[in-house]
Amino acid sequence: MRNSLYTSLLLCPLLAGPLAAETLRIGTITPPPHQWTISAEALSARLAEASDGEIDLQVHPAGSLGNEAQMLQQLQSGALDMAFLTIADLSTRNTEFGSLIAPCLVSAPAEATQLLQSPPALDLLDQLGEQGLHGIGFGMAGLRQVVLRDNWNRSDFDGLKIRTLPIPQEMEFWQQLGAAPTPMPLPALFDAFANGQIDGMQIDFEGTWNSGYYEYAGEILASDHMIFPMVAVFSARKWQALDKATRQMISEQTAAELDVLHEAYARIDSDYRAKLETTDVPVTDARAEFCDLPGVAAWYEKWEAQSPVLKALRIGAGDPS
Ligand code: BEZ
Repeated sequence: MRNSLYTSLLLCPLLAGPLAAETLRIGTITPPPHQWTISAEALSARLAEASDGEIDLQVHPAGSLGNEAQMLQQLQSGALDMAFLTIADLSTRNTEFGSLIAPCLVSAPAEATQLLQSPPALDLLDQLGEQGLHGIGFGMAGLRQVVLRDNWNRSDFDGLKIRTLPIPQEMEFWQQLGAAPTPMPLPALFDAFANGQIDGMQIDFEGTWNSGYYEYAGEILASDHMIFPMVAVFSARKWQALDKATRQMISEQTAAELDVLHEAYARIDSDYRAKLETTDVPVTDARAEFCDLPGVAAWYEKWEAQSPVLKALRIGAGDPS
């Protein structure tokens, strides 16, 4: 009796929190000044505090663990615990993820947050089990803009080589606009733009400023034409090995940090736009012209026929078409 009481007293505090000290690793391709990396660091601090130092989440930014395809493999094998991923590789394995970047569906970061937290988007997280991942939540990198080496002729993108990611829907979008989509990961982008290998890129204001793409630009189109989603994922294999209290703590703290990130983007998009406006490169409002291009309607015609998620997102966003 005395022994069992002693054992219960000993176990009691442990039952309320994680059962063992955990060292975890999170990877992201973004460089240290990028908000995703800042959010990963903040998540690490949150987890350390919530677990009384029992969870040590080590942040590996700037693709230091490999590119996203390599990180995905490590997550699947359990060699990596967690990542903040773009939807590039996820959408080539499950094209429904590409519906999240439907063009011209939202016009401001707050609307993007709403869409990414809506039931059809959250249902996609449940489908990540097929890829050996446990989906925790969506973040984003604000809205997409277009940075061009020369001025836009305001009617088409005929033959222009525009950098994209290998997301099928993104490549199709640029094809519909007459451009030659050129998939390229973030680390390769600066050199490709600087040496004229591409004529332009789809990117955000934050990266345009922080990575200095504007230095080689003739015009920046403030098009706000697509969301750039981020997915916070955990290795399904490692997730299953964690005790319930640790899983709950990671889910809650990640969700809280993603909320902070979403809120930050309304400010980040406008702050970085303002910085770019201090340079010699014209930053032109182009959303209306952009979204009126016939290629946008053609894109919806093609993808809505094959994507139930796109239809549901569109209804949720109150798109009347
Ligand atoms: C990009 O490839 O454009 C990108 C990747 C991560 C964060 C922001 C942008």
